[in-house]
Amino acid sequence: MGKAKWWKEAVAYEIYPKSFKDANGDGIGDIQGIIEKLDYLEDLGIELIWICPIYQSPNDDNGYDISDYKEIAAEYGTMADFEALLEEVHKRGMRLIMDLVINHTSDEHEWFIESKSSKDSEYRDFYIWRSGQEKGKRPNNWASIFGGSIWEYDDETEEYYMHIFSKKQPDLNWENQEVRNRLYEMVNWWLDKGIDGFRIDAISHIKKKEGLPDLPNPQKEPFVESYDGHLNQPGIDVFLTEFTEKTTKQYDAVTVGEANGVTVHDAEHWADEESGYFNMIFQFEHVELWGTKSSGLDLNQLKTSLSRWQAALDKKGWNALFIENHDLPRVVSTWGNDQTYHKESATALAVMYFFMQGTPFIYQGQELGMTNVKYHTIDDYRDVAIKNYYQSEIEKGKAQEEVMTYIWSNGRDNSRTPMQWKNTKQAGFTEGTAWLKVNPNYTTLNAETQQSDPDSIYHFYKRMIQLRKTEKTLIYGTYTLIAEQHPQVFAYIRSSEERHFLVYANLSSKNTSVDVPEEWRIKKTILTNYTDRTESGQILNLKPYEAGICKITPV
Ligand code: GLC
Ligand code: CA
Repeated sequence: MGKAKWWKEAVAYEIYPKSFKDANGDGIGDIQGIIEKLDYLEDLGIELIWICPIYQSPNDDNGYDISDYKEIAAEYGTMADFEALLEEVHKRGMRLIMDLVINHTSDEHEWFIESKSSKDSEYRDFYIWRSGQEKGKRPNNWASIFGGSIWEYDDETEEYYMHIFSKKQPDLNWENQEVRNRLYEMVNWWLDKGIDGFRIDAISHIKKKEGLPDLPNPQKEPFVESYDGHLNQPGIDVFLTEFTEKTTKQYDAVTVGEANGVTVHDAEHWADEESGYFNMIFQFEHVELWGTKSSGLDLNQLKTSLSRWQAALDKKGWNALFIENHDLPRVVSTWGNDQTYHKESATALAVMYFFMQGTPFIYQGQELGMTNVKYHTIDDYRDVAIKNYYQSEIEKGKAQEEVMTYIWSNGRDNSRTPMQWKNTKQAGFTEGTAWLKVNPNYTTLNAETQQSDPDSIYHFYKRMIQLRKTEKTLIYGTYTLIAEQHPQVFAYIRSSEERHFLVYANLSSKNTSVDVPEEWRIKKTILTNYTDRTESGQILNLKPYEAGICKITPV
């Protein structure tokens, strides 16, 4: 059992501010809107809030393109609003972490404007500028994650700058000590304001491969997937050690690194309790199994992947548990069944991840089982990644329906539609017109309706949170996967010296059963997503998407 810490015992909630609650009717969520809903979060049992970027930004990538780290975006409010939010959060005994985007800035950040102005600018080296291999030929063949080349040409100075994400998100040059110092100063400025820590964006991308070489390109594509050039590259440890020693470790800050590409082999470096860079990391192995709806969920791979992380950090570090975020489609539409078994599958998936060792994160609306959307025209979408994808696929000659079908199951706007508060116009999100269309199912799927129904997904989440607060074994206990080969059921045991729990979830729409291992006896069901659960000895008979927890004792 690792050391007890408040952030291990807390349940966290991710707010995507643009879509959470609009207080002034301009159709865009804002800080006052968040303040209005803090009671809702407190009532749900949330103790840690992660708020996606609210800094000044031209919003090419909804705030992940920052033009001033020390200003609040005007559409979200003022610094005074932010300070009020922080105070209101703390008053309720909750904590707040900000999103820290330091792999890149906006191209409208003053550092980049200066950098671009001339080759001799003292800011030139703040970003990654290169001349072409020859005239008209880019410095290398890397693709941007958001489509097209990773390089953008600047006519004035006749060089290219690197952008892993959109061309309005130039990558900072972490090799430059002055860049790092400026970032550390800014990070500490925020920590001095009394925030409780950070979720650190795209941090596994900060080190680029030595020499920026062309990557293998067997298909002779114009650009090739470039992760091998900038994901978790050798030497990143030097940057991360310096960064955390000069900032977050000087404070009692809680940190969650967005650690795409980090595997269990590096888990200790990244999230070790004593020496790791961060308290927790978001790793993405399990969500890479996402696929498209048609290929379904590979349950065995999911079990292997999540269990491997449980083992890797056991007694050494701590997991950040999640099945949704603002970059992923809605889980009930992807791994669940948002039609016939909406409530059952939303709650079964919840049970599956919530009681592992780690801090569970809930993404806004997940606690209601919010679903994907299908807008028929590209004009109804807002995400830069979706727009770029659409354009490049259509240019390649792909049929419109095929492109839209992919967006319906994979697009990031699926999880960015406004929070569904009520069954009134605009889902109670805004008095005006929402910046991204509300999912039309808000008339039946909304917070108000679920709050008044004790049998709702919302109330199930609330029960899960309460249970986790009262049973420390479900937080700190050991994790053991059982029924490893079972094709439909994800089940595990959480154990401490005195107490033992069996957590199970049938993740299919068919009845099935699981044999409880001989060395255990079922005592009592303490959580179930079906009302009529009856004990039946050593066999758990499970209905479609049936999930729950029972107390067990050793034989
Ligand atoms: C992270 C964010 C994503 C953003 C990207 C670039 O992956 O979660 O929303 O687009 O970084 O900052
Ligand atoms: Ca607003």
